[in-house]
Amino acid sequence: MNPYINEHKDRFLAELLDWLRIPSVSADAAYKADIRRAAEFARTQLEAAGVDFAELCETAGNPIVYAEKIIDPALPTVLVYGHYDVQPADPVNLWSSPPFEPVIQTTELHPDGAIFARGACDDKGQVYMHIKALEMMQQTQALPCNIKLMIEGEEEVGSKNLETFVTANKEKLRADVILISDTSIIANDVPSLEVGLRGLSYVEVEVTGPNRDLHSGVYGGGVDNPINVLCQMIASMKDASGHITIPGFYDKVAELTTEQRTELNQAPFDLEAYKKDLGIEDVFGETGFTTIERTGIRPTLDVNGIWGGYTGEGAKTVLPSKAFAKISMRLVPNQTPDEITELFANHFKSIAPKSVKVKVTPHHGGHPAVTPTDSVAFQAASKAFEEAWGKKPVPTRGGGSIPIVALFEKELGLKTVLMGFGLDSDAIHSPNEHYGVFNYLKGIETIGLFYKHFAEMSAK
Ligand code: BES
Ligand code: MN
Ligand code: MN
Repeated sequence: MNPYINEHKDRFLAELLDWLRIPSVSADAAYKADIRRAAEFARTQLEAAGVDFAELCETAGNPIVYAEKIIDPALPTVLVYGHYDVQPADPVNLWSSPPFEPVIQTTELHPDGAIFARGACDDKGQVYMHIKALEMMQQTQALPCNIKLMIEGEEEVGSKNLETFVTANKEKLRADVILISDTSIIANDVPSLEVGLRGLSYVEVEVTGPNRDLHSGVYGGGVDNPINVLCQMIASMKDASGHITIPGFYDKVAELTTEQRTELNQAPFDLEAYKKDLGIEDVFGETGFTTIERTGIRPTLDVNGIWGGYTGEGAKTVLPSKAFAKISMRLVPNQTPDEITELFANHFKSIAPKSVKVKVTPHHGGHPAVTPTDSVAFQAASKAFEEAWGKKPVPTRGGGSIPIVALFEKELGLKTVLMGFGLDSDAIHSPNEHYGVFNYLKGIETIGLFYKHFAEMSAK
């Protein structure tokens, strides 16, 4: 292990654990004060790591933490992006230890231990690697380029105020490349670099039947049930071959060439281990595509939540007046969130029977993104991985979404390197989220090597 990291690893962990104790949940207004505390914590730690300055930039929502270390304006500049906000912890009763009281425990995939806490992997743990990499470079006089950091507090709720900030601060944010650690690698012995992210269209639907809840005996059989209707409507939007039936849904989907697909499928993938990890007997998806393709380069439609009627204890006989669902669609290159949301809304309204009224409310969305593999920055990231992990990283297409990647390209004209270090099995957004201690420390080392190679390769 890198000697500086080895010497300071206990402190590196202790500091991250302190940050994880602050419940910076952006989806719930009850955590407003904690959001600010988490932002302040990052600012203080950045200052301690040796940046020129660190500040909280106020927005209409949560503050953005901004810091920079400029060693020479003539040298290349890396803009690091990450987020200090986290997903809600619920269902809290499914956690084996409290979500904001981090503990380190070993797991099958993390024999050196993993930090269990909300935000451990997504994304405080991965952001903190950058703060510690900066400290290490600074303390060992090894920083070869300029670093700017922008750590936002609204990623998990759609980065509503980031666009305004980015548009208004183009000069401040001027850089040569964006570096983000908020994605995963295939396995700790199979390092990888994501080169694509899916976009997102997210809608809430409401189906209304009778003007009030009814006795399911007195009226049942004679009046349509909005929950039954909603279930039928949702079921009809995907056929038996996993194909989404919304007209026009696939029209703009970028199809990969046979060569590209072959290359994508070269990434190591163990279907049996995948099923075992999830406790499922079989996978499901679009016929004609592998699991790697289904989750990386194909769009989806999924119900994220569905409710209505009586769900309390015991049995209440009721024919409900309303039914609701939250539905997400993951998008791939050249689909746009606005178009897909409109296609969805029109289709949903068109298939509703006359016995109900429907309402579709769009939530935040995001554009898909692909990142280059022929850039100096990607090559530098690849070299950094090879040096730190002893293996060349495999390029992969990630299924998650980081909508600001497309925004950075549009507003700042900058490409991104997705250098994440989590594992898909780290349970982000789920109970028992965790992040490997090995991944954390190895990540710090890899980031340092990225700066070194990026500066060297840019100079050539
Ligand atoms: N870090 C994730 C995205 C991610 C996870 C990308 C794993 C690749 C691999 C990010 O914090 C996230 O959760 N994004 C949301 C989208 C956002 C608009 C709420 C998502 O993907 O659901
Ligand atoms: Mn994230
Ligand atoms: Mn997330």
